[in-house]
Amino acid sequence: MLKTVALHGSARIGGDTDTLTEHVLRGLRESCRLEETHFRPIEMNIAHCKACMHCATGSNCIIDDDMQRVYPAFSAADVVVIATPMFWGYMTSPLKTLFDRLEALASPAHFGGKDFVLVIGYRHYYGSMIEWLERIAGGFGSRSHPLACRTYDPVTQRDIPVTQRDDWLHQAREIGRTIAALRSPPPVERNPVA
Ligand SMILES: Cc1cc2nc3c(=O)[nH]c(=O)nc-3n(C[C@H](O)[C@H](O)[C@H](O)COP(=O)(O)O)c2cc1C
Repeated sequence: MLKTVALHGSARIGGDTDTLTEHVLRGLRESCRLEETHFRPIEMNIAHCKACMHCATGSNCIIDDDMQRVYPAFSAADVVVIATPMFWGYMTSPLKTLFDRLEALASPAHFGGKDFVLVIGYRHYYGSMIEWLERIAGGFGSRSHPLACRTYDPVTQRDIPVTQRDDWLHQAREIGRTIAALRSPPPVERNPVA
């Protein structure tokens, strides 16, 4: 059983990054049993980090809000899908607020040993998010799987919904399948009975 947490950074339910996330999860479901937990921070009550530094003393975050549901799920997750449209060169602000509050779990015990999938929808630029993921995942001993999809045609200056891009949907499913393969236990070796 793989524990999977999906963090939906967009306000657009069923939009580009939600659709790509669903295809990552489909790729995982093809070969694994999943325990899925979904969070959409824009619909949650998540206060800004107050930098009180209580968590730096080893205690839990003292703010009593919806992050108290996120902490145990995030900590226990094998796979975390971080899905965000690019907004002004970075993740959306509700998702950033959630990550600021994850400061309370900022250690290899909670961030390590995971597969982080970063699903990005963008018009112009996504580099800052790739750098961010590699620093976070690599620094804590987790693997990173970025998928950045341009949802805009600069020639026609029109948005292209990912539902019209089978190649990206396929890539998303492939990421799910790859993680499932990486996480599946090796076959038990049996010695032939003499
Ligand atoms: C308010 C707003 C700001 C945006 N800012 C950027 C941006 O700074 N850079 C960029 O590449 N795309 C930007 N976009 C485009 C979105 O990131 C892109 O359309 C994305 O695929 C939407 O994903 P979603 O359907 O999951 O919300 C912006 C879109 C909106 C609505």
